[in-house]
Amino acid sequence: MSFIIGIRNQIFRLFYRLARPLIFLMDPENAHYTLKRVGVFLGSNPVTRGLTTLLFDYGHKSLNIKVDGIEYRNPVGLSAGFDKDGELTSIYPSLGFGLAELGSFTGEVCPGNPGKRLFRMVKSRSIVVWYGLNNFGAEKISERLANVDFGRLRVGINAAKSNVTPEFDLQDSIRDYLKTMTLFKDIGDYYTINISCPNTQDGEPFVDPDNLDALLTAVNEKIRPISSKPIYLKLAADLSIKEIDIIIDGVLKHKLEGVVLTNLAKPESNSEHIAAEYPTNQGLLPKGKGAMSGLPLQRISTNVIRHVYRRTRGQITIVGVGGVFNAKDAYEKITSGASLLHMITTMIFDGPQNINEINRGLVKLLKADGFNSIEEAVGSRNPLPQLRDHQVFPKEADKKVA
Ligand SMILES: Cc1cc2nc3c(=O)[nH]c(=O)nc-3n(C[C@H](O)[C@H](O)[C@H](O)COP(=O)(O)O)c2cc1C
Repeated sequence: MSFIIGIRNQIFRLFYRLARPLIFLMDPENAHYTLKRVGVFLGSNPVTRGLTTLLFDYGHKSLNIKVDGIEYRNPVGLSAGFDKDGELTSIYPSLGFGLAELGSFTGEVCPGNPGKRLFRMVKSRSIVVWYGLNNFGAEKISERLANVDFGRLRVGINAAKSNVTPEFDLQDSIRDYLKTMTLFKDIGDYYTINISCPNTQDGEPFVDPDNLDALLTAVNEKIRPISSKPIYLKLAADLSIKEIDIIIDGVLKHKLEGVVLTNLAKPESNSEHIAAEYPTNQGLLPKGKGAMSGLPLQRISTNVIRHVYRRTRGQITIVGVGGVFNAKDAYEKITSGASLLHMITTMIFDGPQNINEINRGLVKLLKADGFNSIEEAVGSRNPLPQLRDHQVFPKEADKKVA
């Protein structure tokens, strides 16, 4: 059976290689909307859904994983930003995804940034994003999703702060996050709080520890009593180790279940892309705007995963994201400490069959290492440093007090 699926995937890979130059002739944002329309159609009725399942799906019991009490049929997820209005949930399981993170959703309707705001860097295998959180707003989207049955798909709700003004007001911003999270309290399986969008008018104010403390205090006060969903925090790619550690201390202090590592990479300090390809260097985007997905982010996000896994001693959930193009990339993030994965760029560069190809490859890699499940592989190539006698990990300290 696996052999037939392998041939099926090779055929689709070839088709996609032939179709890609045509897709890449389209403006990237138009291509995004066109592919979304195709997805909406494929998900709209049982016949096209069944056909898509036959052609793209794959399942194996070693891929099943339970994270924070939620059972996923596989750890491969769609990352936030592809489905900004949550319109394609009925097709993702047929494409082989175990989970999809929808959004980012914001409290207010957001038109996003003006002008051209999506670019391809083909040689760098990356998408430059300058969207600025465009979405129809939490009210409208939550109303539409309220009674949707997501079936086998596990769904993350990514909440960001509305990008509508350059002025930062702490209490308004907190209210904005709470509004979205409250409206989605009964929708989906987990929340992600996105404090790391690189394309907003007021920057990333929740990297500041006091602001983050105020946000997470409010989330615990207002959201925990109305929703039992796990809450994750999505971090930027370009933070210093010191900044990461301060944020992680906040995550531990406020007992969030985990983190999503990481968001897009800014070009200024990134040497992993071909600079001449960046739209700013072609006069297509003002300096300081936009950030990169894909390959320029791959090594950086894995390093952040490795660091956070060791610092938290594997005691919080890590969702790994950034430049996953094949099973080897996915396995590297898992063995570094990630329990779940998100991806977008590989679908654009390699085609949708790559989702099940990654799952299939993971099964082989698990077997080669003698593991029976993803869970066993998490962090297996990132051994934890020994604790000295005087060192106590915060969660272990909690347990001792209890
Ligand atoms: C077109 C596009 C839009 C994105 N929009 C969002 C967003 O709204 N919220 C968010 O948290 N991340 C957003 N991201 C970042 C992705 O979720 C992900 O962190 C990043 O693309 C790295 O994964 P990849 O290399 O597999 O694409 C966006 C990425 C892309 C390519």
